[in-house]
Parts: sequence; C-alpha cells; structure tokens
Amino acid sequence: MLANPVMTASGTFGYGTEYSHLFDIQKLGAIVCKGTTLEPRDGNPQPRLAETACGLLNSIGLQNIGVEALIREKAPIWASWRVPVIVNIAGETIDNYAKLASRLDGVAGISAIEVNISCPNIKAGGAEFGANPKSAAEVTAVVKAATSLPILVKLTPNTSDIAEVAMAVAEAGADAISLINTLKGMAIDITQRRPLLGNITGGLSGPAIKPVALYMVYEVAGVVGLPIIGCGGITTASDAIEFIMAGASAIQVGTASFTSPRAPLDVLQGIEQFMKQEGINNITDLIGAARR
Ligand code: SIN
Repeated sequence: MLANPVMTASGTFGYGTEYSHLFDIQKLGAIVCKGTTLEPRDGNPQPRLAETACGLLNSIGLQNIGVEALIREKAPIWASWRVPVIVNIAGETIDNYAKLASRLDGVAGISAIEVNISCPNIKAGGAEFGANPKSAAEVTAVVKAATSLPILVKLTPNTSDIAEVAMAVAEAGADAISLINTLKGMAIDITQRRPLLGNITGGLSGPAIKPVALYMVYEVAGVVGLPIIGCGGITTASDAIEFIMAGASAIQVGTASFTSPRAPLDVLQGIEQFMKQEGINNITDLIGAARR
C-alpha cells in the first residue's frame, strides 16, 4: 500500500539518488528506477534524444549499471529510505527476466519489480514480448514464479489490442499493470537527409501522448480488476486526476521531470489541493470516477 498515488516513471528519475538533493523525494508514493538488465549496458549510438512538438523521442537502449551493481551500490541506500523503490527489469530473453526477478528477491531496499515488456529501443526482447498476449503472459508467469516481490507489468502501446495483453498478464499473475510506455516514432534531419536518432527509431513520450495513454488506461481499467498505474505525458495535477478518474489507482510522472525535476512533488501537492477543494478525504473516491 502506497502512502500516496504519485510515482516516478522508469528512465526519467535515474536511481532516485540523483534527485534527492533537489527536493524531498521521500514524500513521493514510490520511485521506479531505470530499466535494469542482467549485465551492464552502454545503450544505443548517439544521438539518443530528439525534441518534438509537445514530446520527446528517446532511443537510450537501456543504458544501465546492471543488476549486480544495482544490488551492491543502490539497494543499500534505498533500504534507508521511507519511499519504496520499484526496480524496472528488462530482458532479451524470457530466461533473463526470470534470473533478474530471482536475483532481486529478498534484497533489502527493493519493494517491488516492474516488468518492462515495452521498451521499443532494443534489438531483442523488450516490447517484442509486450506486443502479443502470449509472450506477455509467459514473461509475467516466469517473473511471478521467481520472486515473492509484488510485480507490476509495464505495457506497450505498440500493440494491436492492449486490453487483450492486459488480460493475459493479469491471468498470468501480475499484481498491478502500468501503462503506457512510449510510442514508437522517428525524426529526420533534413539537412543530413538522415534519421536523426542513432538507432533510427525511438519512443515518444511527453504531453503529445497523453490522450492515447489516457484512453488506454480507460480501456484496460474496463477489463482488468487489478490496480492500474497510469503513465504517459502526465505533467500537471489535473493530468494525473484525469488518469485516476479513468481508473488508475496511481500514476507515474516521467518526461515532465526533465523540464522540472520537482514535477512529481508538484503533481502530488496539486492532487492534495484538488481533493481539499472538492471535499474528498480518500483518493479511492476519485478512482474510476469518470467511468460511473
Ligand atoms: C530506453 O532505455 O531505451 C527506454 C526504456 C524504455 O522504453 O523502457
């Protein structure tokens, strides 16, 4: 049970430590760390970022320190924090996910696992698994079997029917579902006549994708009884409240942290202010309010 519904989105808040001197991150509901793989990764060739109208394309390629360094260097810090930390895991094979989940099981400082079957920027695995219900369920089931930690499964919008994928991961044992990860896209440098990103394609995030994310949360909340964590372009408290009213129990602030590092706290305080104004004592009164 979270102290409040505001989390950070994976890949937009490092390991939390990078932000702890900027504001009181302990006030947040949870921190989700950068996608973690079995081995450290250098990520994709540069350039990896391109700004778009109301959005950001990234093709980071899961640059990260690897699970062993995370356990050695980050988890002991997290163990002293009040705010729970959720580790986002990504793999190229189903076995990678199982190994990661089992390695993280019982590590002090880690409160849950977010299973990333939605990264569009790697050659194998990632969003490949999340694009269809069968492989999404397979990954979910092996992670569930390998850990006693709660598991959130992070879905990709790059699929023909996200509701079907959500139902499949729910059936396979997910404890919660987070959605959405980025939408696959690209940009072209017209003077070079070349794709702008080193990896050619990237994932689009930010306010540009908010209506898509909101619709998908609404859709999934209609078919799955699990807690849903809404993500995708949330910048303000009113964005967050829209997701909650669509059926999300919690939300993640992502790209907004790049322009304002304290965006997650501002969103939280804005939600609290809205609840006060509306005379609402419990956030559960808002969850799914737009569905009734
Ligand atoms: C990346 O590292 O390429 C982004 C991570 C993600 O989309 O899950």
